[in-house]
Amino acid sequence: MKDTATVEKIKLVDLEAQYQATREEIWSAMRNVVEESAFILGKYVEEFEAGFARFCKARFAIGVASGTDAIILSLRALGIGPGDEVITVPNTAFPTAEAVSLAGAKVVFADVDPETLNMDPREAKKKITKNTKALLPVHLYGQPAEMEALKELCRTHNLLLIEDAAQAHGAEYRGQRVGTIGNVSCFSFYPSKNLGAYGDGGAVVTNDERIADKVRMLRDHGRQEKYCHEIEGYNSRLDALQAAILSVKLKYLDKGNEKRWQHAQHYDKLLSHVKGVITPKVPDTVKSVYHLYVIRVKDRDLLRKKLMEENIETGIHYPIPLHLQPALAYLGLGKGSFPVAEEAASTVLSLPLYPEMTKEQIETVADAVKQHVN
Ligand SMILES: Cc1ncc(COP(=O)(O)O)c(C=O)c1O
Repeated sequence: MKDTATVEKIKLVDLEAQYQATREEIWSAMRNVVEESAFILGKYVEEFEAGFARFCKARFAIGVASGTDAIILSLRALGIGPGDEVITVPNTAFPTAEAVSLAGAKVVFADVDPETLNMDPREAKKKITKNTKALLPVHLYGQPAEMEALKELCRTHNLLLIEDAAQAHGAEYRGQRVGTIGNVSCFSFYPSKNLGAYGDGGAVVTNDERIADKVRMLRDHGRQEKYCHEIEGYNSRLDALQAAILSVKLKYLDKGNEKRWQHAQHYDKLLSHVKGVITPKVPDTVKSVYHLYVIRVKDRDLLRKKLMEENIETGIHYPIPLHLQPALAYLGLGKGSFPVAEEAASTVLSLPLYPEMTKEQIETVADAVKQHVN
């Protein structure tokens, strides 16, 4: 075993490197908010919302407190609640399903495509009942789901289409940025996301003015005017400090996504022919923003251990499929219910990837994977 103390650690994500590149601008933005005491909604939130809507090529972006809330508020704005079913995938972050339950609806899982690990339209179709109101595909790891087939399914069965775009800021499907392909899209600005705040944050993006107005009310206690509450809502406003930080970081998002893409191409080149390694399958119709670079290997846990010994940090997104989470045991879905998602949970491995990585670091990681995979 090598002496890891002498080898510089390669992190899965390095937020410090990103901070160093923008620190003066970030502090200046934060200082403005604090000196003006402009903490709740107001111009910094509006500025960011306008910028993020432009980025998504959408009419409206509404800042909310988190990606989880973006989903809850979108569902409520669409009138989805008790008695309704929403179909999503089991291989996602827990909040995707949790948000459906918190909105009062029933979460229904459909297995994913074995190549892309995104929602499989054929599986989704099988889960449609008379109570189904919406599909909630996830653009997993920054790669858009098969939206044309899902849109067609929604058209045929009169369903709404909600995009969980928490990992996919700027990703494209047939040249269109995610955000306006479905009726509404939900973004997270969790710090490690491609566009990450310095705390929690999220946004709902849509071209539909009625949905935008409703989400704006819901995030602010159901009011449009001070002291007049038309409906019961939430305290789910995007914090102005976070909005000011996000406006700075938004300027660098396209460049960061491009860097991620280049790093992913380099990983592909170095790993796609390695026996025992399955690299991401990206259809020609999509442009991934590689929130994560995820390989699949049979003996995943052993490889992960070996990489850690070489001071290379990795991640697992996600180790437990949602239908097997204790919190969702009430759904009564046992092992074997979703074989593709279950297989993915035991084989996926996220390799280090962030814009500031060097080509040499990518090569170090790829070499170590090659050396240890078999
Ligand atoms: C796919 C997906 N959906 C939803 C969320 C929830 O976002 P947040 O953590 O901002 O609430 C996340 C982030 O964790 C996510 O990755």
